[in-house]
Amino acid sequence: MSTEPLLIRQARILLPSGEFFKGDVLVRNGKIVEVASEIINGDSLTIIDATGLTLLPGVIDPQVHFREPGLEHKEDLFTASCACAKGGVTSFLEMPNTIPLTTTQSALDDKLQRAQNKSLVNYGFFMGATPENLPDLIEAKPTCGIKIFMGSAHGALLVSKEEDLDPIFARGSRLIAVHAEDQARILERRRQFAGITDPAIHSQIQDEQAALNATQLALKLSKKYQRRLHILHLSTGIEADLLREDKPSWVTAEVTPQHLLLNTEAYASLGTLAQMNPPLRSPENNQVLWQALLDGVIDFIATDHAPHTLEEKAKGYPHTPSGMPGVETSLPLMLTQAVAGQCTVAQVSTWMSTAVARAYKIPNKGLIAPGYDADLVLVDLDTYCPVIREDLKTKCGWSPFEGWNLTGWPVITLVGGQIVYERGKLYPQVRGKALTFDE
Ligand code: DOR
Repeated sequence: MSTEPLLIRQARILLPSGEFFKGDVLVRNGKIVEVASEIINGDSLTIIDATGLTLLPGVIDPQVHFREPGLEHKEDLFTASCACAKGGVTSFLEMPNTIPLTTTQSALDDKLQRAQNKSLVNYGFFMGATPENLPDLIEAKPTCGIKIFMGSAHGALLVSKEEDLDPIFARGSRLIAVHAEDQARILERRRQFAGITDPAIHSQIQDEQAALNATQLALKLSKKYQRRLHILHLSTGIEADLLREDKPSWVTAEVTPQHLLLNTEAYASLGTLAQMNPPLRSPENNQVLWQALLDGVIDFIATDHAPHTLEEKAKGYPHTPSGMPGVETSLPLMLTQAVAGQCTVAQVSTWMSTAVARAYKIPNKGLIAPGYDADLVLVDLDTYCPVIREDLKTKCGWSPFEGWNLTGWPVITLVGGQIVYERGKLYPQVRGKALTFDE
């Protein structure tokens, strides 16, 4: 698709230094070609008047479950990418627990083809580890990395035993991202608490110790082979404390907005909508995770967008699936925190874009500078609007944050220099591109 040159005029621009300045950004052939404090000549260009708006690099969400193929009743790559565009998410890294599982090159190719046909934003896919697919894990491409479910999974994608994990860490060099929960402990505690239907028990069954045990094992194996490790959705203060004491330079970790902003008190109002893996924790954990993020112990933010229908969520615990949607609320949630003084807007942008591009070695993304891809989001930091169910683009049609009054909502989102979302309107003909990952 051709991309018209365009000029973003008089935005408050976040520079790579973390400072803001008011100026113009010229975009041509999908790239940022000029960032200037003086007025750039805009004759014959499409002009976006960005007066009063803040320009940030588009969000790169490094953990989403978009359900296609096989689970399209929950979400698909079109609806999910519409939600991304509305939320200022211009690239995503998607997880392998679809049907079929993304455990082979052909399954990966199929997802890439589907995304090319349907996704409004840029896309990358994880390869899922099984105890048997080591050659695929080493060879398949392009992929952002290997996903290992050490717990909270069933069937082929569960790799919980050290003897099955060890060879995956030993062979190959690409990034390994772990869902760190101790499956044996979870199963034992499930038996112990059998019969309890209050969803709050979920946080006790899949408790903090279960998360810590698995994170410790992943760290041990990563150190044994000096293997690049990423710990997905860190949920507990004890894991953060562990990393604070001993985090090798080749290890990164992420946290979700819900583990920062929601806690076990949410079960009272949300019931099973608050059920996710790893589970929500106590309010004290929120504080420790925030501090770890502010101190750089946790490197970046992912939503773990994991939509399930309201019918599925109404089945009654423990028959309800775990997971909640997130891509269209994550940026305003975090920017609202920044405006409230919890962190800075520049930090939010680092955690949601710059640091993700760096960790996954995605070239030319995550900064506003000449030569970088024009994946951009213009946000309004002055207006507050609540999260409203009727506005949501995710197919599952609900959010755990409904009613939250947020600022920093995207006004315009650009993918590869094309407007994909503008003031409530989507441009569904725009297509993102396959992300590339440097070796
Ligand atoms: O709560 C979750 N749901 N956590 C995961 O890691 C998987 C996800 C899903 O796919 O539903």
